[in-house]
Amino acid sequence: MKDIIILAIESSCDETACAIVKNGNEILANKVASQIDVHTLYGGVVPEVASRIHIENISIIIKETLKEANMTVEQVDGIAFTQGPGLIGSLHIGVLAAKTLAWAYNKPLIPVHHLTGHIYANAFVKELKFPLLALVVSGGHTELVLMKEDYDFKVIGETLDDAIGEAYDKVGRVLNLPYPGGPKIDKLAKEGKPIYKLPLPKVENPLDFSFSGLKSAVMQAINRLKRNDREVSIEDMCASFQKTALTSLWQKVEAALDSYAVKQFILAGGVAANSELRELVKEKMEKKYPNIDYIIPPLKYCTDNAAMIAASGYIAYKKGIRASFDIGAKASIDL
Ligand code: KG4
Ligand code: ZN
Repeated sequence: MKDIIILAIESSCDETACAIVKNGNEILANKVASQIDVHTLYGGVVPEVASRIHIENISIIIKETLKEANMTVEQVDGIAFTQGPGLIGSLHIGVLAAKTLAWAYNKPLIPVHHLTGHIYANAFVKELKFPLLALVVSGGHTELVLMKEDYDFKVIGETLDDAIGEAYDKVGRVLNLPYPGGPKIDKLAKEGKPIYKLPLPKVENPLDFSFSGLKSAVMQAINRLKRNDREVSIEDMCASFQKTALTSLWQKVEAALDSYAVKQFILAGGVAANSELRELVKEKMEKKYPNIDYIIPPLKYCTDNAAMIAASGYIAYKKGIRASFDIGAKASIDL
């Protein structure tokens, strides 16, 4: 069978990324220009600044990716791009770059939903087996997705308020940690103990999530300790928050695994980089669900990158999904 080579562009938030992937799982080149250093100065992503930096970086990153793969655009079979969801100004830059390449080189243009990219990042580890359950945990989303086959996405649970990554970043801000809080909390939690009692979020539907109350509970716990002239241990607070957030997350996964007969469970999104979550998944899956296969994506494919967009774009390409040149970016789109 002829090899299918996809060039993908991702620019939904603060990473300008380009990748070239063969047959959906073989990376020929993968480049990411992160803007984190700039946004850290402001304590979070500034959308207008992000768009401007994408403009500066996009052509360079595409050129570098082609150079790394030792290829020209003529040699690729399709141009995939993140259509959304994300920051509209940031998305626009990637969409424009993809359209320009597809038009100039007469290549098929393939629109990709950002979250499907996170899901298909798992294809770099091994083949997906259906039906599968995906836990998508990122800065903007917390969702349980049931897939009966390739590119069939059914959201069976979601957050009613903040995404888990957003909660990590907001708690990070409360604890005066540099942006993004997620990786810092992960690191500090290892040095602390979960001694502070925080309430588990309560949600009516056992498959839905809620994290904004937990963030407020952290703030209240800190204020209470300060009022009583007690010192707040940042490490212990990180460990307490993380333990409560992950306990809640896992309760929902178990509820879903107990209700739906799936062959595989996969983890996806930036928060999948969390070391305690990765250990928890491994331990729980092996002990409680030995008959369900599971995948934890490699660290470098958890946070935003274009290789995952190419992996998803490959499936979309095979399914005949194409965009016309009047397609635009979308800040929010359903799966
Ligand atoms: O998927 P991603 O790169 O961007 C979105 O699509 O949102 O996810 C970014 C999120 C941020 O909220 C960040 O704090 C979180 O993932 N994150 C982590 C870790 N690494 C990144 N959260 C917890 N522990 C980590 N190690
Ligand atoms: Zn993402």
